[in-house]
Amino acid sequence: MNFVITAGPTREAIDPVRYLSNRSSGKMGYAIAEAALAQGHAVTLISGPVYLTSPRGANFVSAITADAMFDEVHAATRDCDVLVMCAAVADFKPAQIASSKIKKQNAPSSLALVPTRDILSSLPRERNYFVAGFAAETNDLARNAQEKLARKNCDLLIANDVSDATIGFESDENAVTIFFRDGKMREIARISKKNLARELVKIISESAKKF
Ligand code: CTP
Repeated sequence: MNFVITAGPTREAIDPVRYLSNRSSGKMGYAIAEAALAQGHAVTLISGPVYLTSPRGANFVSAITADAMFDEVHAATRDCDVLVMCAAVADFKPAQIASSKIKKQNAPSSLALVPTRDILSSLPRERNYFVAGFAAETNDLARNAQEKLARKNCDLLIANDVSDATIGFESDENAVTIFFRDGKMREIARISKKNLARELVKIISESAKKF
């Protein structure tokens, strides 16, 4: 199968030297890309700025901003079987990017933000590829994840509880609950991101076959 996988954070410029971003390391998305390649799939890896090396054999595409990632996902999904949206795309970006460095003395006391476009929600309602989304939640995991799965028109949603600081962001381990469109769910207890990635690729490709 042809997998398109997004990974890492995005970076939203404030001025030429400053940006807004988040704590995503890209480890989960890169591990999924590696596992998909090992299981014989073709992989396009669309990555935000991370300190990781692209797995050998992946078609690597760099996307630094939410807008760039939006365009690259739309281009790559013209020909794919599965999209895995693992990237922690910024939800907001500065309303304006200053063309020169903002001087400390002229610094505004607040920063105006505008929402970025939601990539998952922008995909065509009728599509011929399978979509797996991710959700980072701190509370009401099941309720929020099920609502997000429907709102973002995913076929499957992988939810992690980011209130536990020892797993998830920046960690080598994770624990997730997978929610399916038909209401079924499956829990995967604390496990290394590499092993979790193998399980996820198996589950996603099995589900995509039935799609
Ligand atoms: N996502 C996206 N486009 C964005 C932001 C997020 O496609 N501009 C995707 C992420 O890649 C992830 C999923 O949406 O697969 C869930 O992201 P999350 O940040 O948990 O959801 P939000 O839309 O931010 O919802 P909320 O703030 O209500 O939790």
